[in-house]
Amino acid sequence: MLDKITAQEFSQRRATLMQQLDDNSAVVIQSAAMQKRNSDVDYLFRQDSTFFYFTGFNEPDALLLLKKVAGVVEYHLFCQPRDKEMEIWFGYRCGAAGVLENYQADFAYSSETIAEKMPQLLNGTAALYYSFGRENLTQQVQLWLTSMHKRSRQGVTAPVQLMQLDEISNEMRLIKSAAEQQMMRRASSISAQAQVKAMRETKVGVMEYQLDAHIQHHFAINGCAQAAYPSIVGGGNNACILHYIDNSQPLQDKQLVLIDSGAEYQYYAGDITRTFPVNGKYSPEQRALYEVVLKANLSCIEMIAPGTPWDKIHQRAVLIITTGLVELGLLQGDVDELIAAEAYREYFMHKLGHWLGMDVHDVGNYKVDGQWRELAAGMVMTVEPGIYVSPDNNQVEERWRGIGIRIEDDVLVTENGSEVMSREVPKEIAAIEALMAS
Ligand code: GLY
Ligand code: MN
Ligand code: MN
Repeated sequence: MLDKITAQEFSQRRATLMQQLDDNSAVVIQSAAMQKRNSDVDYLFRQDSTFFYFTGFNEPDALLLLKKVAGVVEYHLFCQPRDKEMEIWFGYRCGAAGVLENYQADFAYSSETIAEKMPQLLNGTAALYYSFGRENLTQQVQLWLTSMHKRSRQGVTAPVQLMQLDEISNEMRLIKSAAEQQMMRRASSISAQAQVKAMRETKVGVMEYQLDAHIQHHFAINGCAQAAYPSIVGGGNNACILHYIDNSQPLQDKQLVLIDSGAEYQYYAGDITRTFPVNGKYSPEQRALYEVVLKANLSCIEMIAPGTPWDKIHQRAVLIITTGLVELGLLQGDVDELIAAEAYREYFMHKLGHWLGMDVHDVGNYKVDGQWRELAAGMVMTVEPGIYVSPDNNQVEERWRGIGIRIEDDVLVTENGSEVMSREVPKEIAAIEALMAS
């Protein structure tokens, strides 16, 4: 089984990108930089997703330049120079010679020469594509262009079209290749098994961060050195805080615990949420709300197939959740009117899901030409309906307050329908209770 993206696929991605551009175009993509945490301590390095997508190169302070000249594509890569002293302290660097040998670059240079070399390399290109959202890169581009304009009397011609690269690169990343689908299956599977492990380790008195420790352990043992994002482990009221990452409290009897966690496997994210009872048995109120969220989850997944408009799936979740809340007495009134007034937003305040890929909230437009996008084979999305009853909600009976539930799966759109990649972790109440009792 393929365990990482091959050099051939990285090369194919560069070719596919450049095929879409006119002659005399250039593309510049910047790597991530090291980020300081405190004093002499840095955050763990994580390469920029788009940079990695086109290079497979995992070092900071690098820059990719692709140029198309007379129909021929040139691949230039700037990287950190070899440096004995720095490598003793911070680790091995591939260096320009290593980049030529191992990363298929046609030309390689030290990143210390970027300011001097880029104006030369861009001379004569008509269009320059880069990510407008990268502030640091935008400033560098301005400096290169200024330097080129100053040399116009010497015949230097600077690009006249500055183009948003994201429009093209994001569309490529949105549709996952067969190899990417394999990486994502693995990320989801490891994430699902970690949730099962957490369910087994849950009991009254365990700290939220201790459940996360079991999850991180499972990720690492299975080849995921880093998670895709900090886990959310929220017991009781904490489940109603959507981005709760403190994970600092002890789990108590009669509470639910919501765990939202995902492994990162070879740069691809899992993103799974399960919500289960600390003592192993859902209370009647927890069960009633859980059944509504589960119905929304299952019904939305059923809709996933090529051609389904993105927003239609969200609307299905809204309908099921609003109807359920009316039936249980948490909302009063006519379902259609409540939906029109967005009354459900008090309980379901986020969207049904998002694209999933190298970034947990992955790239790709949700609307095309003003219309909600239709799903297509190779897209991966989450389906994550939820109901969160604030502990301060005085409109409902006390017994409902502080219950927060989300059920999140990772779903690949296939030619004929969908594949739930996170299916190894149960979500039916009976299955979860049986697992926790075993
Ligand atoms: N874990 C982030 C999300 O579910 O969107
Ligand atoms: Mn998600
Ligand atoms: Mn999530």
